[in-house]
Amino acid sequence: MAFTPSSSGPHDLALKNGSVVLPDGTVNTTVYVRAGLVSAIGGEAPAARTIDCTGLTILPGVIDTQVHFREPGAEENEDLATGSRAAVLGGVTGVFEMPNTKPTTSTPEAVADKLARANGRMWCEHAFYVGATSDNADECGTLEQLPGTAGIKVFMGSSTGSLLVSEDAMLERVLRSGQRRVAIHAEDETRLKERLDERVEGDAASHPVWRDDETALRATRRVLALARKTGRRVHILHVTTPAELELIAANRDIASCELTPQHLTMSAEDAYPRLGTLAQMNPPIRSAAHREGLWHWLHQGLPDVIGSDHAPHSLEAKSRAYPASPSGMPGVQTLLPLMLNHVAHHRLSLRRLVDLTSAGPQRLFGLVRKGRIAVGYDADFTIVDLKARWTIKEDWLASRCGWSPFTGEEITGRPIGTLIRGQQVMWEGSLTGTPVGQPFRFDATDRPA
Ligand code: DOR
Repeated sequence: MAFTPSSSGPHDLALKNGSVVLPDGTVNTTVYVRAGLVSAIGGEAPAARTIDCTGLTILPGVIDTQVHFREPGAEENEDLATGSRAAVLGGVTGVFEMPNTKPTTSTPEAVADKLARANGRMWCEHAFYVGATSDNADECGTLEQLPGTAGIKVFMGSSTGSLLVSEDAMLERVLRSGQRRVAIHAEDETRLKERLDERVEGDAASHPVWRDDETALRATRRVLALARKTGRRVHILHVTTPAELELIAANRDIASCELTPQHLTMSAEDAYPRLGTLAQMNPPIRSAAHREGLWHWLHQGLPDVIGSDHAPHSLEAKSRAYPASPSGMPGVQTLLPLMLNHVAHHRLSLRRLVDLTSAGPQRLFGLVRKGRIAVGYDADFTIVDLKARWTIKEDWLASRCGWSPFTGEEITGRPIGTLIRGQQVMWEGSLTGTPVGQPFRFDATDRPA
């Protein structure tokens, strides 16, 4: 007999006839929502509104744990409104945004400013990383406690923007200040400087030659040693080499990691001849053999999360001859389609994908009431059609930068609906509703009322 939920009045919403990805498996059932929370799973009960999800699959809301939205400082490429619009159109219900804006997000004032800008303008849930610098190294423990922050981010190698903590002594000070998991861009600055001559004018294919495997591996090795020494947990962002994943696998008590859809999808052999500087990012797109190595490690239980590293640059800037061209590519809107396509091609299971995009972020970062479809959790849902076949086209893209390296890509699996705390913000490719995004709450900083 179906479980009939006890209720204090009718539900606000019922999602009916969908396949619902619950923590213990996928079930054809009804999900009910009341006051923004999941109020019941299964049973028959009255609801003020019903959404018919026949033929669709209901996932817990997809969380993109790495985006760069350019506000303040480069709103001509993206702002918090346009970036989060792209997110929800791609089925993403929440983002962690990076601190390499102008000014950098490295003070309490800058965090407060971003939260104020996000309020009423962002379409999805959000948290802002605080960038570590030589000026704030000893205050990181205080900064990471600010509500609405995802923690501290360290750039060990120079990338877009001015943030950099390249020396061990300074990095150790950062790791000694505070408790939360520290997110790391692991490329070794000294080696990057030594190898500048490896860059070939006009040839983006030399990007992974300059920023080679050893550049990434050396930084990851250094930060893991410091994490061990200081007893601090670190999260290695956008890992690109199998060797780093092997190292991380040997340090799972202190290290977690992220892969990006683009490193799991693109290869140097194809991408640089076809896309040139559009394929330029840090750390770089590497060989097909690297890509297969990442998949090997994915099947060994790494990574913990998938992040898009959404990094919108204008086509004008990207059209400069390498290496004057900036590094980064947009991706928040294509994260889920690319990964659904990999599910359709049996490269990973839907359950594993949900672990990487919902449960994983919740578990790793201690998100309050997110990451699973369970009574009492926020009613964040990403509704998908696993069978839909379609092509990524420019007119679907919402990022202000106006391009994607994946236009023309044929995809199986499509985001159909995005709901945030029970509020429908996207359906069948159109925005519905309003920018309802709120700051994520974290176990580490949330003071229950
Ligand atoms: O390629 C990249 N672009 N890597 C980064 O680390 C930063 C990003 C950006 O902000 O453009």
